[in-house]
Amino acid sequence: MKKQIISGVQPSGILTLGNYLGALRNWVKIQDEEEYECKFFVADLHSITVSQNPENLRNNIKSIVMQYIASGIDPEKNTIFIQSHVHEHSELAWLLNNYTYIGELNRMTQFKDKSKKQENVKVGLFDYPVLMAADILLYDADYVPVGEDQRQHLEITRDIAQRFNSTYNKEIFKIPEALITKSTARIMSLQDPTKKMSKSDENKDGFISLLDPREVIEKKVKRAVTDSENVIKYSDEKPGIKNLINIYSAVTDKNIEEIEKEFEGVGYGKFKQAVAGAIADTLEPIQAKYNELALPENNEYIENICRKGAEVAQKIAKEKLKEVQEAIGFITK
Ligand code: TRP
Repeated sequence: MKKQIISGVQPSGILTLGNYLGALRNWVKIQDEEEYECKFFVADLHSITVSQNPENLRNNIKSIVMQYIASGIDPEKNTIFIQSHVHEHSELAWLLNNYTYIGELNRMTQFKDKSKKQENVKVGLFDYPVLMAADILLYDADYVPVGEDQRQHLEITRDIAQRFNSTYNKEIFKIPEALITKSTARIMSLQDPTKKMSKSDENKDGFISLLDPREVIEKKVKRAVTDSENVIKYSDEKPGIKNLINIYSAVTDKNIEEIEKEFEGVGYGKFKQAVAGAIADTLEPIQAKYNELALPENNEYIENICRKGAEVAQKIAKEKLKEVQEAIGFITK
């Protein structure tokens, strides 16, 4: 039996270089390992926990599927699907709500951060981690590749699963583990290197989007906040340069020492040019593939992948949901 992997991304726009280096690129590596079977979905149900414009949402959902494939996720090797196409996600989330404590959801850092920014905090935002637990538990996932910021959501998923299992004294749910790749340092904002690079940053210079053309990448990297030392040295006291070194290291596969050596005696201007060039070289093939997938004649291809993916996922999800309903005491059809 292969180890089961599941992960998802919210359709809130074009992914950033940070999403690519921190998530998608690792997924592409995982898919090539024989012992894993992977499912990657578009977390559209999660995305409505903050308000969305319908037209944008529609475009963004498809766009994420194309970004997955353009980044190298092979639809032949993996199951790619849209979360809302498998209604079992919402259904299991409702059931799991009854095995989740208000107190534990109140402790979620992401909820605390996001609810600060809203006037009327919605129940969906509060319940976000329970839906995420459903996403994972439906498929008996062994590992969930996520960023460091999702670690807490994985912890609560494990707690909910264990609580459910012990309530019915039966191993209904597999207890999943977070797969957080240590080798990829966190990619930070170019404008505030103490904050994570985020596609929802109001300052567009803070992030590089997967689809930014070379000139834009050059401009953004050139404007990246650094310090006045003009020395390429990896240090916590120099978060801007540290971030650029991390990015350069991730896109070139060179290690920190090699990079410090390569740019010894070189000023920030030259270094930034090299970083921008390396980023653009990495993103170019992804952009070419994306543009091809976005052609109207490829629409059906994308739709077929989603349809097939949802079928595969639903078969599994349906069985698991039934098991859960029976454990609880519902009469199943
Ligand atoms: N919350 C995740 C994020 O924002 C997205 C997500 C939703 C997810 N459901 C998931 C990731 C299940 C992994 C598994 O990054």
